Amino acid sequence: MERPEISNLSIRQETPADHQKVFQLLQEAFKDQEFSDQREPELVKRLRSDAGFVPALSMVAETGNTIVGYILLTEIAISGPEGSQTSLALAPIAVCTSFQKKGIGSKLMRHAHKKAKELGYTSIVVIGHEDYYPKFGYQPAHGFGITFPFEVPARNAFILELEKDALLGVQGKVVYADAFFEAE
Ligand SMILES: CC(C)(COP(=O)(O)OP(=O)(O)OC[C@H]1O[C@@H](n2cnc3c(N)ncnc32)[C@H](O)[C@@H]1OP(=O)(O)O)[C@@H](O)C(=O)NCCC(=O)NCCS
Repeated sequence: MERPEISNLSIRQETPADHQKVFQLLQEAFKDQEFSDQREPELVKRLRSDAGFVPALSMVAETGNTIVGYILLTEIAISGPEGSQTSLALAPIAVCTSFQKKGIGSKLMRHAHKKAKELGYTSIVVIGHEDYYPKFGYQPAHGFGITFPFEVPARNAFILELEKDALLGVQGKVVYADAFFEAE
């Protein structure tokens, strides 16, 4: 399949004017993903209203006037016997299908990591594909003694240290905001 060339790719903070386009992008990108429940557009809507929402960490990748990618990091906590440590959860990342495998996802990841670090965050957790996240330095969360409030295969649960030894002495359960879960 022929794929469009990328010109002038830029990454910037999402604004309310982007919400509808981001919604459509998420619908399209996750449409045929077997692992997905296709509810990512609604998840992002809920997360934007969450106390853990960090506007600077809700970012779009744009070429010309077209939004071709999106990434969101939301503040969460890792809570254990030694206390609670602030962290971030990566969910979701998406690139529209006709622009995939051109490096846009990688650029979004690296840009988001850099921004998070600038804002003083020290780690990021993600549940996702075992082949994708290790490329960006993510390591198995269980190796750090970090657990999740739901069943997740160990091979799909990752954490990234944004600085060396950021997780020394940090272990416990990831505490997500309610917005991560749909109301019953
Ligand atoms: C995952 C996704 C964001 C990657 O974006 P992208 O722009 O295609 O990624 P890149 O071009 O930067 O590719 C980065 C690398 O990841 C690989 N990769 C891409 N999608 C992958 C996937 N679903 N699983 C495993 N590896 C993948 C690429 O082959 C590439 O590997 P390489 O560097 O060894 O060549 C994009 O495929 C997407 O939106 N998928 C649908 C939504 C989704 O699955 N999101 C992630 C879960 S929240």
